[in-house]
Amino acid sequence: MESLLATIFNELLKGSSIIKHPYRYFCLSSIEGKKPQQRMVVFRKITNNTISVYTDIRTPKVSQLLSNPNASVLLYDYKKMNQIQLTGTIEVEKEYDASVWSSISPKAKKDYTTSLAPGSAIDTPEKVLYEDKINFCILKFSFNEIDYLDINRPYHTRAKFKLTNNEWLGSYVIP
Ligand SMILES: Cc1cc2nc3c(=O)[nH]c(=O)nc-3n(C[C@H](O)[C@H](O)[C@H](O)COP(=O)(O)O)c2cc1C
Repeated sequence: MESLLATIFNELLKGSSIIKHPYRYFCLSSIEGKKPQQRMVVFRKITNNTISVYTDIRTPKVSQLLSNPNASVLLYDYKKMNQIQLTGTIEVEKEYDASVWSSISPKAKKDYTTSLAPGSAIDTPEKVLYEDKINFCILKFSFNEIDYLDINRPYHTRAKFKLTNNEWLGSYVIP
């Protein structure tokens, strides 16, 4: 199990660092009341079992996560037909390190400075106004469960891991 776990973490690291890796974009799920909400996000960084995502603090996902930090991440490698489901909680980091903001390109920075909040109605897509206020924040997703599935022949491989007392314990399960 240890080598499988190492492979999973290695693939996650590649997802955060290789632009064209299939894990570079993943689906992040949160909960609004009793309803699940999903969206694609960019995989920015992984440190131990914590994944960073950049967002606009005014997005609905942020208020969802502030009232319910439970979240799930779904990554899919369409080349290898590998799926990774991660379960954990998200902390909204408003006071981020200034070096993070300065590492973002001027074009990408603009996305976090729209006058109206993401999701606000506008007349046409070109009519987006910007201002100086920065609405950037970092979502820190810390996962404590991993569900891995490799669709393959002659057999599929599925394994579940749980972080217990700082140690990942896992076993193969029926796919
Ligand atoms: C390929 C792709 C990458 C995206 N990356 C991000 C991202 O890193 N952060 C983000 O906040 N939104 C990202 N979005 C937009 C979100 O999917 C979503 O539309 C937006 O954040 C509003 O989400 P919410 O209304 O659920 O809060 C991305 C969308 C796509 C299609």
